[in-house]
Amino acid sequence: MRAKEKAKPVSRAALAGEADPRLVALSVSIQDDGALYAEDIRGSQAHVTMLAAQGIVPKAVARRIVAALDQVRAEFAAGKVRFDPALEDVHTHVERRLGELVGKDAGYLHAGRSRNDQVALDERLFIVAACDRCDAALERLQRAFLSQARAHEATILPGYTHLQRAQPVSLAHHLLAYVEMFGRDRERFAEVRRRAAISPLGSGALAGTTLKLDREAVAARLGLAGVTRNSLDAVSDRDSAIELSFACALAAVHLSRIGEELVLWTTKEFGFMTLDDAFATGSSLMPQKKNPDVGELARGRAGRALGDLVALLSIVKNLPLSYNRDLQEDKRPLLGGPDALVLTADAVAGAVETATFHADRMEEALGSGEALATDAAEYLVERGVPFREAHEAVGKAAAFATAQGRPMAKLTAPEWKGFHPRFEKDVLRVFDARKSLARRDLPGAPGPRQVRRELARWEKALGKRRS
Ligand code: ARG
Repeated sequence: MRAKEKAKPVSRAALAGEADPRLVALSVSIQDDGALYAEDIRGSQAHVTMLAAQGIVPKAVARRIVAALDQVRAEFAAGKVRFDPALEDVHTHVERRLGELVGKDAGYLHAGRSRNDQVALDERLFIVAACDRCDAALERLQRAFLSQARAHEATILPGYTHLQRAQPVSLAHHLLAYVEMFGRDRERFAEVRRRAAISPLGSGALAGTTLKLDREAVAARLGLAGVTRNSLDAVSDRDSAIELSFACALAAVHLSRIGEELVLWTTKEFGFMTLDDAFATGSSLMPQKKNPDVGELARGRAGRALGDLVALLSIVKNLPLSYNRDLQEDKRPLLGGPDALVLTADAVAGAVETATFHADRMEEALGSGEALATDAAEYLVERGVPFREAHEAVGKAAAFATAQGRPMAKLTAPEWKGFHPRFEKDVLRVFDARKSLARRDLPGAPGPRQVRRELARWEKALGKRRS
């Protein structure tokens, strides 16, 4: 693939001599945007096919260009394309190689097109495909959580606020909380995809072209839903890149939350779950260690995702219309994010799917009665006591139990009566976590009837899309 003579970039045609090596070193982007070769070639094939249909390029030439571009794609895929810093980016590398394959006729391809609308298209094609990959990974993740939730409908544990034991929930309800989060993430990717899936080609460098292009035909050939409506905006808009990055960042933040819980729950202190050995790591020094690196990496990766988002927003901030070279800097933060998310989501899915949850430890953590203090207050509310008054009475009972070193559930009926006259013998029945859970039956609540409904709803929703 060696260029025959030293490459002089097409864009330097009007400039004297060669670029200073220091400028070349700063300008080169092929090491990053080389990843867009497939999108770039798809766009070029659609463009030249349209040029031929419009009579701008001879049909036979267009056919040869399309075929040669197939070969360039294969060479890129096989890592056979030599990168030349003087050629700058993926667009010029593809064009140069095409020239080597078909000769002067390669020059027909770029009619009515600029690298500015070209790179905007490449990115949109990348974003559309990335949304699909992220969606599929998040669906796999949802399935992993859902299957464990189904297996743990009857497992109860304290729900936490402030990382303090608060009120009883089921493990299914806890796991379904993540299914909800990843569901919203998937909706976001669908939205990002919808806005990205339009073609900027035909916008030229910034002001369109005098040639009679058929923009809609190119869009249709690329499977895009329409064309951009303003050429200045089209070549300088990076909203879809930013939105994709945001969707990745928020999903990564969600993954960092489950990552944190994997770390906490697998400690001896919690003992709520054990990772399968296939998803655990050891220590190079301490032979007894079984580490939850999967959770820690899920937390750490989120840091990178947030950095990418801030980088993209900062690159676009203050840019005057229309295209500015600053925009080239979007490649690194844009291109790595989706795959990092997919890798993290798949590893977490595997860890969750194969983990063992310890129902006994979870139930033990409910303690004896503390998590049901609110139920005791609600007992009074159901007997006509204002909630604040009930809250105060139970607060006193709790303080009394603590001072005596006795669990709340072990207070006697006369003792309860002492804290509020409306307490009767049956207050003792309140201190049953399973019964408490069963009474939590509003939509969205952790009671078994509601959780069963949610399990069925998600199973149906996920079953329908892919199986
Ligand atoms: N590599 C460039 C980028 O990603 C392509 C557009 C170059 N356009 C230009 N006018 N220099 O932004």
